[in-house]
Amino acid sequence: MLHHFSSLQVIILAAGKGTRMASSKPKVLHDVLGKSMLAHVLHTVEDLQPESVCLVAGHGIEEVKKHIGEPENLHWVEQKEQLGTGHAVLQTKSVPTTADMVLIVCGDTPLLTAETLATLVKQHQSSGAGVSVLSAIVDEPKGYGRIIRDINDEVQAIVEEKDANDAQRKIHEVSSGIFCVNRTLLFQCLHGVENNNAQQEYYLPDILPLALARSATVQAVIMHDANEMLGVNDRVQLAQAENIMQQRITFEWQKKGVTIQQADTVRIEASVNIGIDCTIKAGTQLLGSTHLGDGCTVGPYAVLQNSWLADDITIEAFSHLEETSVGDQAMIGPFARLRPGTQLDDKVKIGNFVETKKAIIGQGSKVNHLSYIGDTLMGENCNIGAGTITCNYDGANKHQTTIGDDVFVGSDTKLVAPVEVGSGATIGAGSIITRQVKQDGLTLSARPEQRHVQNWVRPKKGDA
Ligand code: UD1
Ligand code: CA
Repeated sequence: MLHHFSSLQVIILAAGKGTRMASSKPKVLHDVLGKSMLAHVLHTVEDLQPESVCLVAGHGIEEVKKHIGEPENLHWVEQKEQLGTGHAVLQTKSVPTTADMVLIVCGDTPLLTAETLATLVKQHQSSGAGVSVLSAIVDEPKGYGRIIRDINDEVQAIVEEKDANDAQRKIHEVSSGIFCVNRTLLFQCLHGVENNNAQQEYYLPDILPLALARSATVQAVIMHDANEMLGVNDRVQLAQAENIMQQRITFEWQKKGVTIQQADTVRIEASVNIGIDCTIKAGTQLLGSTHLGDGCTVGPYAVLQNSWLADDITIEAFSHLEETSVGDQAMIGPFARLRPGTQLDDKVKIGNFVETKKAIIGQGSKVNHLSYIGDTLMGENCNIGAGTITCNYDGANKHQTTIGDDVFVGSDTKLVAPVEVGSGATIGAGSIITRQVKQDGLTLSARPEQRHVQNWVRPKKGDA
């Protein structure tokens, strides 16, 4: 469902170093199922169709910019020193916006859904509150800010783990770190936020008591699925986020008509697309922008990265495809390795222990056993015998092999590139082809003479 919040500005906080990740990479650039946390959050807030989005970056800002590119409607704000979440939001004050409401989200909560954010914004609007915080009831509140309510259940403040006393630490309602705030009130309060706390930071949650002092209403909107607010601060939480998202993705594809065997062993990344009646077998990984048409069977233990499959294709066990496209009814593997630039037309067969790279292979052609086909253009209905090798590399340069239609290459042939094989040609087994092969007829290189030694005796074990 698409929303359209035209008077809403979204601020994404992503300036922190992410010390607890122990990484040279900014925290928000770490991947959750093949997509950075920040990209997840950006795509989620885009679904709200806000007036504009403002991204606060700081630590590793150049890397973050390079990663995100320049989406429309995105304002970059630099927070030079990371003095806290409140300080981060304050940096956005002069960003031009016509919005009167601000939604603040963290770049490290990749599981949040647009539905949940929309619920927060709608409840903020309908309640007339000045500040609404998204909260959750969790079994393990450790590490999160606790929601402090008075005897009338009214929200008073948020206390960070490090500043909380023993009684406060026992509270199970925690802050997701996500706020919807009236914009004027937000900056009025932020100017009053101080840093006299355990971390000596300017905390965004400290706007709550300041808003109350200004007679604004403060509310906490409790989310249904506490999993969504998982904040990723270290690699243990990164793994938890991946597991939760994987369950979601698996469930979605199952509902859309995909059979997934032993689903807890299968990895399907966030940008993958799968048609109906596909079967994904145990241990299979579908990565990056991989696309499967309808009726494909993949695995067990196949890896497909940024690859494009048409319909009714079988990829057998332990095959590895990278930047490869495959036509209808092709059959691959087991144990095939298709490297970048492989383009297989319909009904192509690639068998066990075959490696291809930059190979364009025409309809119905077969490379069934133990071959290397690289830098090759191959026509239709060819049969490439076991052990055929395109010798494409001379140590400095790569050379092209061109093969016509209906070519039969005998087993253990070496095609020393650059070389062309004409349509209809047959090449005898064991040939070393260094010159153009004419169309039709039989081509074979000279074979060593076969000898027979009648009186030779095979040594036996125990002989001196
Ligand atoms: C924060 C909240 C906590 C909440 C939790 C939810 C504060 C003080 N604490 O804690 O109440 O329960 O999130 O996950 O807000 N950031 C900046 N600039 C800074 C500091 C942080 O941009 O100066 C960004 C970080 O990159 C991160 C986000 O703000 O994306 C949250 O910061 P983090 O340090 O992860 O806060 P938590 O300790 O998780
Ligand atoms: Ca966090």
